[in-house]
Amino acid sequence: MDKCIKILFVCLGNICRSPMAEFIFKNMVNNKGISNNFIIKSAATSYEEVGNDIHYGAKEKLIQKNIPFTQRKAIRITPEDYKYYDFIIGMDEANIRNIKRIVGEDVNNKISKLLDFSNNPRDIDDPWYTGNFELTYNDIIEGCNGLLKYLEESIIVKNID
Ligand code: 4NP
Repeated sequence: MDKCIKILFVCLGNICRSPMAEFIFKNMVNNKGISNNFIIKSAATSYEEVGNDIHYGAKEKLIQKNIPFTQRKAIRITPEDYKYYDFIIGMDEANIRNIKRIVGEDVNNKISKLLDFSNNPRDIDDPWYTGNFELTYNDIIEGCNGLLKYLEESIIVKNID
């Protein structure tokens, strides 16, 4: 377990974007047969939806795209999470500001935005407001593909060498 790469996806409510990223990335590493190398979770920066399951629009999109998911309860990121996780990955600039407000300065360079791992770094809009879960899904796929590529090229390859 110690050698696992620990990833925490973070958004404002932990009912739309970050659980979608959690289950999409879990599905990607499962499909590659490398899921044992990872601990993948998600959390909110706000208390707003704590205890609530994934938003129905996010669930519908995951079902449509054949991404397995489980029932869950939204949680809020804690200051202790900074030490535990290797990567703390927000969806937009506001998430990054709020994460830093909760965990403090990013002294170990663990905090980034999901689409920083893509060729076109940008925010992922909140579907809670836009209602566009297809766009959210596509953005998250783009970010998760970039993240997996980054990990395969940097960390996993180094560990094997
Ligand atoms: P998420 O979307 O950050 O992608 O989970 C939101 C869900 C709920 C709220 C805000 C954003 N809310 O304010 O309750």
